[in-house]
Amino acid sequence: MDISKPFTIGVLTSGGDAPGMNAAIRAVVRTGMTHGANVFGITGGYEGLVAGEFRPLGARDVGGILQRGGTILQTSRSARFMEPHGQRDAIRKMNEVGMDGLVVIGGEGSLKGAYALHQQGIKVVGIPGSIDNDVWGTNISVGTDTAMNTIMEAVDKLRDTASSHRRAFLIETMGRNCGYLAVMAGIVCGAEIVLIPEVPVAVEEVARTIEDAYMRGKTHAIIINAEGSGIRTTDLSRALEDKDVGFKTRVTILGHIQRGGSPTAYDRLLASRMGYKAVEALLSGKSGVMTGLKGRGVDYVPLEDVISHKRTANLEYYEMTKTLAR
Ligand code: F6P
Repeated sequence: MDISKPFTIGVLTSGGDAPGMNAAIRAVVRTGMTHGANVFGITGGYEGLVAGEFRPLGARDVGGILQRGGTILQTSRSARFMEPHGQRDAIRKMNEVGMDGLVVIGGEGSLKGAYALHQQGIKVVGIPGSIDNDVWGTNISVGTDTAMNTIMEAVDKLRDTASSHRRAFLIETMGRNCGYLAVMAGIVCGAEIVLIPEVPVAVEEVARTIEDAYMRGKTHAIIINAEGSGIRTTDLSRALEDKDVGFKTRVTILGHIQRGGSPTAYDRLLASRMGYKAVEALLSGKSGVMTGLKGRGVDYVPLEDVISHKRTANLEYYEMTKTLAR
C-alpha cells in the first residue's frame, strides 16, 4: 500500500434492497473517515462498478439516512458483472480511481460477486443484506427484521377481517428459496399452516388442516405461503374453495411492501455494527470475508464458506408452527 495516499474504500448495495442498507452505508462512510480513509459510493450496485459510477461520500452526505428504507446508492441485479469481462471492467474502473477496498452490501448473489473479486486480488468485505434471511453464516441479515415486522402488521390487520367474516386468508410472503420469513410469520402471526420451499406439502393436506381448524371452532384461518413453496397462492385458494373446507377464502400477496419502509431499531443497530466491522476488517488487511452475527457478536466469516452453503428455514420452528396452531 502507498502510505502517502489514504486508503480508499468503495461501497455498493446490490440485489434486492433491504431496510437498513442506508444505515450500513452511513456506518461505512463514518467509520472510514474516522480512520482517515476516503469513501466512494458506487451507484446502482455492480452495474455502477462496471461503469465507474463513483462519487465521494463525506459524513454530511450520509446524514439523515439512518431511518430511511431502500438505498441511497440504488441497487441492481447485474448480469454484466457476472461475466468475466464485466468483472475485468469493474477492476479496471476501481484501479483508475485508486480504490483499495470494497464493501458489498447484499444477498447471496451479491456475495458471490464479492468473492469473485476477492479471488482476483481485490480486497472485499461483504455485509449480508436481504429480507429473505437466506445468507449462510449469519444469524440474521440486514433487513429481515423490518420485513418480518411489516408482515406481522399486515397479517394482524388481515386477521381482523378474517375473523369478522369467518374466512381463511392466504397470505403470500417473499422467500424464493428460503422459508425463513414464512416460518417466523407463522409463529408470530399464529398461522394454521405454513408452506415453504424446503418442505413440499400437498394441496389435500392444506385442505385437511383448514377443514380441521374449522371443525375445532376456529373463527378464522391464516395460511402463510412462501413465494417459492411450489404452490401458487391463487391456485391454492381456488382449490380450497372447490373442496369446501368450511371457510371462504381470500388471497393477499404482500409482495414488495415487505422490502420497503423505515428499518426497525434492530436493523439499524445490526447494519451499523456490520458497517463499522466491515471497515475495520478492510483497514486491518482482511479480505474475502463477510460480517456475520454469531451469538452476541459480529464475526468475520469466509465468503467462500458463505457462498458454498445454503441457508434454509429452521425446520424445528417449522414443526413448532403446527403445535402452536392447535
Ligand atoms: O431476494 C429478495 C427478494 O425479495 C425475493 O424474496 C424475491 O423473490 C425477489 O427479491 C424479488 O425481486 P425483484 O425485486 O427483482 O422482483
